[in-house]
Amino acid sequence: MSFVLQFPKTTKNKKMENQIGSPVESHKTDVLPSSASAYLDPHYWDDRFSQEEHYEWFKDYTHFRHLILDYINPTSSVLEVGCGNSQLCEGLHGDGITQLTCTDLSPVAVKKMKQRLISKGYQDIRVLEADMLDLPFANECFDVVIEKGTMDVLFVDSGDPWNPRVETVDKVMAMLRQIHRVLKPNGIFISITFGQPHFRRPFFGKSEFTWSMEWRTFGDGFHYFFYVLKKGHRKSEGDESTERIKMPSISPYHDELDSEDYIFRTNIDDV
Ligand SMILES: C[S@@+](CC[C@H](N)C(=O)[O-])C[C@H]1O[C@@H](n2cnc3c(N)ncnc32)[C@H](O)[C@@H]1O
Repeated sequence: MSFVLQFPKTTKNKKMENQIGSPVESHKTDVLPSSASAYLDPHYWDDRFSQEEHYEWFKDYTHFRHLILDYINPTSSVLEVGCGNSQLCEGLHGDGITQLTCTDLSPVAVKKMKQRLISKGYQDIRVLEADMLDLPFANECFDVVIEKGTMDVLFVDSGDPWNPRVETVDKVMAMLRQIHRVLKPNGIFISITFGQPHFRRPFFGKSEFTWSMEWRTFGDGFHYFFYVLKKGHRKSEGDESTERIKMPSISPYHDELDSEDYIFRTNIDDV
């Protein structure tokens, strides 16, 4: 078993299919960082978003829509943390989920997201700058919080995934405490990630959280994880309340990853 930080193959000039909008041309070699730790640098994201109009980490909405609609309905107030230039909110809106708040640490991402949504007629989606480690919202104000690939950023310099650095643990815990705080008493946190259950459970299952944890997978050759944490549903003190809904089959074939998602493959066992 080994843990290797791997960088993506160049995808310059590759046509990337934007499943919600129209096909877009990727200029990914222009936006790739020199090292994975750059993902922790807010300036990296500002520079990137000033050049890049759209990129979906870990697949777009169409790939996990069937899972998400089990947990969200049109009356749900939804917070997305680390929205980047994803079109997730547009997909949700198209399914009648209109009480949406998109946030990102990057002012460039926020400005461009606002412009894009207004130009496409989504006047009712709220977009604001916010650090997920210190969310500017009152306690218990969202039914659902979603993150897609955002928590993974905190793990890029974690070191040994079985024993992450203290700095990584502190940041991940700060993020989770904020999300737990802003969720309503029976609210749901959805985390879409590469992180396997044995690496996420030590965080999600901390006894200070009242949520239960279950997970599903999606994807064709390579599987992504779709975690559902239901606040107030933990069975008992000290009980991690984890439930595997579907056994994942992890593919070792890197060629099946057609994108920069590859870089976040730090927490995956080589099988
Ligand atoms: C890997 S991208 C994922 C973007 C988007 N969720 C998607 O699925 O395509 C990570 C995003 O997290 C944002 N981010 C990084 N640190 C953050 C923080 N502390 N608070 C909020 N957003 C953050 C970055 O600006 C970037 O937009």
